[in-house]
Amino acid sequence: MTERRALVFDILEALTDPVFLLDGRAIVYSTNSAARVVYPSLTEGMPFSFALRYPDLIEAVSTVLNGAHEKSLELIERVPVERSFLVRVTRLSEEVATGSLLLPLIMVVFRDLTEARRLESMRVDFVANASHELRTPLASLLGFIETLQGSARNDLKAHERFLGIMREQAQRMARLIDDLLSLSRVEMSEHKHPVDGVNFGALVQEMIDMLRPLARERHVEIFFQSPADAVFVVGERDELLRLIENLIENAIKYGQSGGKVEVCVDHSIINTTGVPEVELSVRDYGPGIAAEFLPRLTERFYRIDVAASRDKGGTGLGLAIVKHIVNRHRGRFAVESQLGAGAVFRVFLPQYSNYF
Ligand SMILES: Nc1ncnc2c1ncn2[C@@H]1O[C@H](COP(=O)(O)OP(=O)(O)OP(=O)(O)O)[C@@H](O)[C@H]1O
Ligand SMILES: [Mg+2]
Repeated sequence: MTERRALVFDILEALTDPVFLLDGRAIVYSTNSAARVVYPSLTEGMPFSFALRYPDLIEAVSTVLNGAHEKSLELIERVPVERSFLVRVTRLSEEVATGSLLLPLIMVVFRDLTEARRLESMRVDFVANASHELRTPLASLLGFIETLQGSARNDLKAHERFLGIMREQAQRMARLIDDLLSLSRVEMSEHKHPVDGVNFGALVQEMIDMLRPLARERHVEIFFQSPADAVFVVGERDELLRLIENLIENAIKYGQSGGKVEVCVDHSIINTTGVPEVELSVRDYGPGIAAEFLPRLTERFYRIDVAASRDKGGTGLGLAIVKHIVNRHRGRFAVESQLGAGAVFRVFLPQYSNYF
């Protein structure tokens, strides 16, 4: 019997969910280590309700003490941070001496739902945002189709103009879908880290050449500085191209007023764990970003000025994609900016030659 009990306590101790065993008077009989981390003040010999004063929980415990086999409830803690738990109170067949009586033990298990709830709310937000972003151009397309079929049926000039707008809206939807697909592709493979060596300097040069027409159109000059010898990173070519594209395109679009964008590749970086890294920095001299917005830039669909970004054809997915690509490459991402003083976006990636 005692051996069996020791085994049960061993198992309880190994569980990652906080567990409390209570005796027939709702006094803590035993706890596991997860419970001691979450509720350090609730120790053996203490009445359960002293530390956990949730009326629903106290009622559930007393229902089980009075004969019910099991009761579950959801509990939300507001302080110090909001956490939600699914709490299950169960009557065990094992009995312990309670005063002069032998009464069954009660087990209270807390399952932490905080992370699951957070993911769920992110998923709901994501679907709402994606549908909203698709619905706006779709509504405009439908509006123009109706006009073309109705009042503007015989107005050839209007046809030309409306079809131009419709084309733009359709392209916007296509771009959004491409971004969503590439985001989900990177996310799906995030745990598979790339192993190939890629000539990073050449890749940046290639992307700058591709973005020159956009820069010219916006009257922005791009300056590129890179070490004389080839710089290799561990990476996947297409993803790195997307990453470079997003950062330089943002610098051109949002930093347009500064007139120039400086792109720099540096391979003399050693990170805190001793891994040699390659740094890509993209600096613009535009309006910059206020400190309070910086932490949110890599959230999906996050745009500081939604209307302004939409005007520039943005969907707010660019930096979310960048961040996922950086994670998949085991790199680091940083933004420095001050309002009125432009912005610098930095990406650090492990160097290839020294990687293995
Ligand atoms: N260099 C920059 N200067 C100022 N603001 C910037 C800069 N880069 C990004 N931002 C801000 O961050 C927001 C998010 O950028 P992100 O690249 O994720 O989305 P987007 O450019 O709006 O759309 P997309 O990249 O999907 O076309 C932008 O809408 C803009 O408000
Ligand atoms: Mg962007």
